[in-house]
Amino acid sequence: MTTAVRLVLMAGVATLVAACMAAPPEGSEARPVAFEGAYAQGAAQVAHGARLTDVLGCTSCHGVALTGGSYADDPDGELVFASNLTRVLAGYTDAQIEALLRTGTHPRRDALYYMPAKSLQRLSDADMGALIAYLRSLEPQGRDWPGPREGEGTQALVAMGILSTSGDAVEAYRLNPAPGMGEQFALGRYVASVTCAECHGPDLSGVDPGAPGLQHMDGYSAAELDRLLADGVTRGGDAHGMMALVARRELSALTDAERAAVIAYVEALAAAK
Ligand code: HEC
Ligand code: HEC
Repeated sequence: MTTAVRLVLMAGVATLVAACMAAPPEGSEARPVAFEGAYAQGAAQVAHGARLTDVLGCTSCHGVALTGGSYADDPDGELVFASNLTRVLAGYTDAQIEALLRTGTHPRRDALYYMPAKSLQRLSDADMGALIAYLRSLEPQGRDWPGPREGEGTQALVAMGILSTSGDAVEAYRLNPAPGMGEQFALGRYVASVTCAECHGPDLSGVDPGAPGLQHMDGYSAAELDRLLADGVTRGGDAHGMMALVARRELSALTDAERAAVIAYVEALAAAK
């Protein structure tokens, strides 16, 4: 046991040394902005990855234990299932998982449905590393689910733009980033780009019909935004709409600093409009 502890400690030191040589020091502007804790190592890195599966909605669609299950009706009959992430990932390399998340391309199939690669492509490398480290730490459990049928009905809905594939909009999001509001808003802009943008549009200016432009949220005070994002209650007292639900299930996992940063950024967008 002593040996194991020492090995862990030595690995920790080696990582620290490598980090000091490779990465600029803490707080340096050159270090890419990321969620709080993204640069942690070892168990803390894995815990950060676990938090990200809530923040990024993986647990909303793949289930709290990430074991997957029925997700949507397949127009060709039966269901589309969200994959069991505790079982399928062993067959993929880290690079394949990263490509799947950032571009929506599947290592073995032509199409992948529903995954929001459009906004996930904006994840920093450090956050991506922590996310994959956590996914790799999961013990296999539950069962595998059938893949999508990809029949004629599905293809027709994709062609009409009613059903989207995961690769859709990746290019549009890449070309249309959220407005930069200066260095002091970098964290808030990053959090909004990766989370809010999934529904509020690539540059957060809104999707019609759907989610309003975040530059029009000047009716909301900072305290009201805080209540919405932390507790899932809108200014109008609604706790049941899409936004309230996503706040409770996903955005409540933001840290206080991340939430404060995203609120300051939304306020800056409103002030600049
Ligand atoms: C909006 C719902 C949704 C969200 C959010 C989502 N997924 Fe998925 N994901 C799905 C569905 C549905 C499938 C199955 C799609 C298919 O088979 O074409 C899937 C498939 C996958 C696959 C492919 C596995 C396989 O079967 O080969 C991986 C890996 C994956 N998701 C990881 C993630 C991770 C990690 C997150 C969070 C960063 C995430 N997903 C967020 C719905 C979602
Ligand atoms: C999964 C989709 C989704 C995500 C992610 C999301 N929103 Fe929303 N949001 C919506 C929708 C849809 C509405 C429209 C009202 C509704 O349906 O609940 C909305 C409405 C709002 C409103 C107005 C609420 C009202 O009073 O009607 C605010 C403010 C808001 N969102 C802020 C944010 C911020 C900030 C983020 C990121 C930190 C975010 N949203 C992330 C879907 C989303």
